[in-house]
Amino acid sequence: MSRLGLVARALRLTISRSHADPTADYDAASSDYDTFFSPVMGGHSTAALAEVPISPGDTVVELACGTGHLTAEIVRRLDGRGTVLAVDKSSGMLEVAGGKVKPLTEAAPGLRVELSEGDMDSFIQGIPSASADLVVVGWAICYSKPPRLLAQIERVLRPGGRVMVIETRADAHKALTDGLERVFADDPSLLTSLIRVSLPKSAAAVARWFTKAGLAVDVQREGAQVIPAHTPAAVLEWVQRSGAAAGFKTAVDNDREQLVLNRVEAGLAEILARQGSLDIEHTFVVVTGSKPVRAGGGRGARHDEGVGVG
Ligand SMILES: C[S@@+](CC[C@H](N)C(=O)[O-])C[C@H]1O[C@@H](n2cnc3c(N)ncnc32)[C@H](O)[C@@H]1O
Repeated sequence: MSRLGLVARALRLTISRSHADPTADYDAASSDYDTFFSPVMGGHSTAALAEVPISPGDTVVELACGTGHLTAEIVRRLDGRGTVLAVDKSSGMLEVAGGKVKPLTEAAPGLRVELSEGDMDSFIQGIPSASADLVVVGWAICYSKPPRLLAQIERVLRPGGRVMVIETRADAHKALTDGLERVFADDPSLLTSLIRVSLPKSAAAVARWFTKAGLAVDVQREGAQVIPAHTPAAVLEWVQRSGAAAGFKTAVDNDREQLVLNRVEAGLAEILARQGSLDIEHTFVVVTGSKPVRAGGGRGARHDEGVGVG
């Protein structure tokens, strides 16, 4: 095994800026996402959304809305009046979102829901300062430079406006990611570009990003969900079809993708034989926060929402 070889290859790929873009994988996963990811992880997203207030008439910005699981919930909670500005980079995911949201908005002339295709960093830069009551980022802040994105989120929020982030934790699917790392370490040439994601190590790490961006932290908590797959093949099917392995296809040498999958599956089979089970956890973090209300509109911060860090 050559961990040094893997490091050298990762360095070369970093220098040549060969970063895997997950969009093609999300396009491919879009028709399965609501069968594999949303029924398992979507309840955790809606529970996190329930921790921030949404009132009729609000303006909500949703970054990386995917198939619209949270968008639909936001629309329901706006109760016929308000604005949702949502963006996603994958046209496939947006198409599913459109189908979900359209029936909810058709008979509601007071609702404006715009689903845009594009990059969330550029999208948020086009949103006026102090114009949003809530910004939501579900399972996607990892695809940005979080402190930079959160600084933009702070800019677009009205004073007192809220932000909700739910994100996979860096140790999620550990048996799987360790197995993948071993396969790449054995043969670094299998890795053709880097999967660049900023997965947080803990909710506290996300809270620090919030603070750095000038946002007050209201809630920070961790969670875990065992994925409903009990054989190596079923685990691989879930992570691929749920979009949880997005970026993988682009990161691996095209001609040898199946070889990588076979080797990871063999590694999982060894774990199953050794431990008698394959309880793979999708760990995650939830952090909500708010833009401080500054006394007299000046720069002296006064966070007067009276909420505690959970
Ligand atoms: C795991 S899905 C989450 C979707 C949705 N927020 C949810 O809660 O189900 C991640 C989404 O992020 C989108 N995405 C990734 N990078 C992006 C970027 N730079 N700008 C906009 N969308 C992005 C993907 O296309 C995908 O739809």
